[in-house]
Order: sequence, then C-alpha cells, then structure tokens
Amino acid sequence: MNTDRRANHVAARIITLLAVTGIGVLVYRRQRRNLPCPAKLSFLLENPLMNRVAGAERLLDRAGVQPGMRVLDVGCGPGRLTLPAARRVGAGGEVVALDIQPAMLQRVQKKLAAQGITQVRLLQAGAGEGKTDANSFDRAFLVTVLGEIPDKVAALREIYRALKPGGILSITEVFPDPDVQTPGEIRKLAQETNFVIASKIGTFPAFTMNLVKPV
Ligand SMILES: C[S@@+](CC[C@H](N)C(=O)[O-])C[C@H]1O[C@@H](n2cnc3c(N)ncnc32)[C@H](O)[C@@H]1O
Repeated sequence: MNTDRRANHVAARIITLLAVTGIGVLVYRRQRRNLPCPAKLSFLLENPLMNRVAGAERLLDRAGVQPGMRVLDVGCGPGRLTLPAARRVGAGGEVVALDIQPAMLQRVQKKLAAQGITQVRLLQAGAGEGKTDANSFDRAFLVTVLGEIPDKVAALREIYRALKPGGILSITEVFPDPDVQTPGEIRKLAQETNFVIASKIGTFPAFTMNLVKPV
C-alpha cells in the first residue's frame, strides 16, 4: 500500500470511529432524558462544530448582552458561555453561573482562576429550587439545558422571578442534542409562565428564542 492510500485508510478509520462514538453517545443520552449531561462529556459542548453553530459571542449578541449587565447562566456546564459573558459585562457587571453538578462548576472555577476573571459567582443549584435573587438580572441564558430539567415550569418561574422587569431569557436549542426542545414546546412553556416571546432567531441546526419579562 503506498503512503497516500495508507493515510486515506487511517483517516477513514478515524472518521468512522468518531461517527460511531458520537452516535453511541447520542443514543445513550436519548435513553436518559432529563438527566444532566455528565462533566466528562464536556467535549461535546466545547468543540469547533458547536462554536460554529452556536458560538458564545453569537449567543451573547442575540440576547443583547452589554457592559455593566448582570447575567444568569443557568446550566452553565463547563463555562462555554460564562467566561465570554463575564468578559463582555466587564468589571461593572456580574455573571452568576448556576449548575446542578459540582464537577461542572469546578471546571468553570479552574478557567476563571487561570484567566484572572473575578466578576463571576458560582452557584450550585437545580434550576427551579429558588436559590437566585429576585428582580436582579438583565439577561438569563438556557443554552442546551431546558430538555435536561425535569420541572421546566418551576425553572422558568424561578428565572422569571430572577429577571428585572424588561429582562430577557434567551433560550438556545441545538440539533442533534438528544434533549432538544422544539419552538412549540418553548412557546407553551412561555405562555404558562407569563413570558412574552420577543424574537426567534435562526432555525436549523440551532435556534434562539428570546423571552421577555414584561415591564
Ligand atoms: C448540555 S450542558 C450545556 C452547558 C452550557 N449551557 C453550554 O451551552 O455549553 C447542560 C448543563 O445543564 C446542567 N443542568 C442539567 N439539569 C439541570 C438542572 N435541573 N438545574 C441546573 N443545571 C442543570 C448540566 O449539569 C449541564 O452542565
């Protein structure tokens, strides 16, 4: 076998292995809906493909995050959005990164320390447990999180309470997340929790819906 053919053969094997692993993980996760994505699978979130379809800066733009704002990152995971949000709000703002899994928050903590970012507060809690402050956030995010939360209405009610009047909850869903929520499901939840839908941006493979807490 010449060198070119051998290289093609190796590349084909690697691609097949990655595809089979990816499909295996998705099937495994699909059978365990409403369970938090394990910290060990953070590589499924922090990779160039995810950046391309739902990169942090794009999601911050879609929600209109500005310097000085207070931002609540619900289900922050390994901090994919938390750190860019902290840089954007700057020293005059604050980000509260909430996650149910201590292992995820430890990952965020390590990155914050390495990058010398101080305007982030970590909060270990389940969405809906009511551990956030009332009327104190300009923006809240649920990025590929909603489908993992067992009591979605309680979670949205807590976020509604945590937002200032006029504040925005920005929900992003990405295919083929095994827990992906449809726009229809989000509309129904918004209605049940008194949010007003302000916009829907994007379609496939990622879309964002901005829900406003009326003034
Ligand atoms: C798929 S990850 C998304 C992480 C991050 N938002 C991102 O886009 O990279 C979902 C995260 O939500 C967290 N999560 C799942 N259920 C939760 C709940 N009930 N309350 C708070 N966090 C939860 C998981 O621990 C996990 O870190």
